[in-house]
Amino acid sequence: MARIPEHTIEQIREANDIVDVVSDYVQLKRSGRNWFGRCPFHNEKTPSFSVSPDKQIYHCFGCGAGGNVINFIMEHERLEFISSVKLLADRANIQIIIDEAEPRKKDDRASIYNMHEKACRVYEKQLNEGSGKAARSYLLKRGLTEETLKTFRVGFAPDTWDTVTLEMMKLGLSKEILNRSGLLMSKDRGGYYDRFRNRIMFPISDINGKVQAFGGRIFGEAEGAKYMNSPETPIYHKGRTLYGLNLTRDVIRDTREAILVEGYMDLIRLHQEGFQNVVAGTGTAFTSDQAALVKRFADKVFVCYDGDDAGKKAAQKAGLILLDKGVDVSIIALPNGLDPDSFFDTNAAKDFEKLKKESRDFMSFVLRSNAEALKSPVTRTSFLQDQVADLAQMENEILRGMLAGQLADELNVPEDAVMNLLSKLTRRARRPQSSRPAAKKEQARDTMLRRPQSGSEKAEFELLRLHLSEDESLLNWLTSTIDDNFIKELHYVEIFQLLQGRLRKELPINHSRLLDEIESAEIRRFIAHLITEALPDLESISHAHQCYKTVRWWSIQREMDKLNILIREADSRGEDFSEFHRKKVKLQSEQQEIKPPLSL
Ligand code: GTP
Ligand code: MN
Repeated sequence: MARIPEHTIEQIREANDIVDVVSDYVQLKRSGRNWFGRCPFHNEKTPSFSVSPDKQIYHCFGCGAGGNVINFIMEHERLEFISSVKLLADRANIQIIIDEAEPRKKDDRASIYNMHEKACRVYEKQLNEGSGKAARSYLLKRGLTEETLKTFRVGFAPDTWDTVTLEMMKLGLSKEILNRSGLLMSKDRGGYYDRFRNRIMFPISDINGKVQAFGGRIFGEAEGAKYMNSPETPIYHKGRTLYGLNLTRDVIRDTREAILVEGYMDLIRLHQEGFQNVVAGTGTAFTSDQAALVKRFADKVFVCYDGDDAGKKAAQKAGLILLDKGVDVSIIALPNGLDPDSFFDTNAAKDFEKLKKESRDFMSFVLRSNAEALKSPVTRTSFLQDQVADLAQMENEILRGMLAGQLADELNVPEDAVMNLLSKLTRRARRPQSSRPAAKKEQARDTMLRRPQSGSEKAEFELLRLHLSEDESLLNWLTSTIDDNFIKELHYVEIFQLLQGRLRKELPINHSRLLDEIESAEIRRFIAHLITEALPDLESISHAHQCYKTVRWWSIQREMDKLNILIREADSRGEDFSEFHRKKVKLQSEQQEIKPPLSL
């Protein structure tokens, strides 16, 4: 199919001001920043149709119609996208030149690899120049040597908008490739700027050493997330990559042992101190794909995460995933407050060697790090239930049984009881989800367009709306804080995933381009609605956080409602409901900490 190049579409959109175009069809009156008129898409007496020259979109509060200038022509003239673009091109006297044949996928990947290698060189060079020098001496002060910096190709992204962009422009690549590379961000009015600015850059390589992504650590006084990582691109999938493996795979294969750490700095430091069989995650929770990758080289993994509670929990999760893939696991316990990197500030290699010798097998580590919970019979029981619930998630049946046996043994409870619980929970974990997803999706789309009703629905609506903000720190907060399971309203899930996926490609989101690319009319209307609702004074992290807490508050409320039913049922049957009650009390205190929901 012939394709109109994206830059031409943008040019056409820019040449056709939405107020001008709509005025050809509808009588508009100005009020404040916006223009109003009677909606051409439904019958009405009072004008509820608005056009925003700032945002270049239209929206009807009555029937929900909405979109950008191209969508307006599509709906009004009942034309396809391409024909609407052509009509607008005529109107603005712009000639359309059709793109050449589709570029081939493989070449795209090669070009994106090439971009990463070039970018990596730019960053490496910048670490020795200008403001990069300060970053370099910071790294040296933290104990890294010159040689280590070279080995890991650590670099610096200066606090400029175009250092990497200019370099990339020299390559003469298509827009499509530039957009998908993950190195550049596109501007609203065309053109690009550097994604990474004022950050210490850790290149992430594939197993053959080809740079495929970056982790950028904040430097100096800058604001924003501590780490900013490359998005998913055609050459990079976070959950399938292990940082450092390209440099450490041979040593790991020789010894059949690996040490798994959480952070880039942790890996580099351990490597420098002589522990060269180390791998690290890439800033997201450890996955079973990563476990499968490490299993290609190692039979045994020593998990060495932060010494605090969060680190222990994460180590336990990673350990279980590795075990499930058939990798032997030991967990190294660091003193509270230290990570592998800071451990070496006051300790030597032999001290780490000692910790490694003292490392425990998985279940012993879990029992030791939960010593507090084992003290009373009540907490002991709930600990047991939580652990069995985790084991029930495992695929490996034999191992699952063995670990449950070890748990029963160590806790001195009858093995039968634990096994029964395990098989009950295992069945539940395997139960298939909803039977008719398609019907559910349809229903969800219908519900989406109505105004949010409950407090939690409003808060989720707000969170969606904030995804269309232009405030980068807010957008970074949204992408790093909210995960897929957080959004509870079924009819918002699809939109949420769409917006999150979009943010990974461009930040902030270009509204007009987004509207062009959405095929579903309902979703397009909904997004136009979100854009029109924009209230800039509410575009702050604190507002987002307030909404976040509200959603959480309501989701706890719903869990408690369910527990109340279970308690009542158990009570009427004369059964023991203390477990439900315990859960309820726990939820209640979490809810109280969040404070009452705000009314939006
Ligand atoms: P230093 O503070 O310089 O020692 O870095 P660190 O690597 O020890 O950082 P930390 O222990 O806080 O985090 C461990 C790893 O989690 C990092 O290496 C990143 O991969 C990831 N990470 C930490 N903070 C963020 C963040 O704000 N966003 C994302 N995406 N990842 C993060
Ligand atoms: Mn650290």
